[in-house]
Amino acid sequence: MKPNPIIAALDVPTAEQALKLAQELAPAVGAFKIGKELFTSAGPDIVKRVRDTGASVFLDLKFHDIPNTVAKAVASAVRLDVQMLTLHTSGGSEMMRAAEQSAQETASQSGRNAPLVLGVTVLTSHDANTLVEIGCEPNVGKHVERLALLAAKSGLRGLVCSPLEIVMLRQILPAQIQLVTPGIRTGAEKSDDQKRTLTPREAIQAGANWLVIGRPIYGAANPREAAEGILKSLN
Ligand code: C5P
Repeated sequence: MKPNPIIAALDVPTAEQALKLAQELAPAVGAFKIGKELFTSAGPDIVKRVRDTGASVFLDLKFHDIPNTVAKAVASAVRLDVQMLTLHTSGGSEMMRAAEQSAQETASQSGRNAPLVLGVTVLTSHDANTLVEIGCEPNVGKHVERLALLAAKSGLRGLVCSPLEIVMLRQILPAQIQLVTPGIRTGAEKSDDQKRTLTPREAIQAGANWLVIGRPIYGAANPREAAEGILKSLN
């Protein structure tokens, strides 16, 4: 059986709301994403409680710091038993190598599989002006390409990307690199701040391995049915 590629974003402010959603959705999704809002309000314990539903956890804290600090943060995340985590590729190759090494070493010490350390390239909220402002190449696509290649060279095994970058990244990256994409819309929901979207099926066909889906699931009248419908659309 193929693994379930749906990562449901637990973008809710409290542990109670997150656990209610996680218990309802666990049989219908492959993993849950815990981001800055929930982690900061509910604390690291929320990871363990979500893991108790039997689902995998994607800890999306987008680490970016000196290599030693990021390596230690990754080690702490591995001890919390997360299966995926994120860092900013703009932290550079030394930081990425330190993170990947820490993931491998801490996992082997803890008797676990190493989590997938995912690199974030250019945030989708950034445009040419933002890149110029911080002294980077103004072409967003070129900057994404540069950071993605640097991540692969630095030993990362996965990247987060926008749905519209999947085809380009599949052309330039080694095939084993896992691509995780948000910006997924089924067409059934109201329009919102996600502008450049693909349907779940289109994103998988373009070459994504994992789909991060928030509002189309947790914002639906029946989140479990919404997740099951998305899964069915992929078969
Ligand atoms: O509700 P929605 O499906 O838009 O949620 C997408 C999730 O993916 C949110 O947690 C959002 O922060 C995250 N994300 C994103 N775009 C990125 C990176 C992360 O939407 N470029």
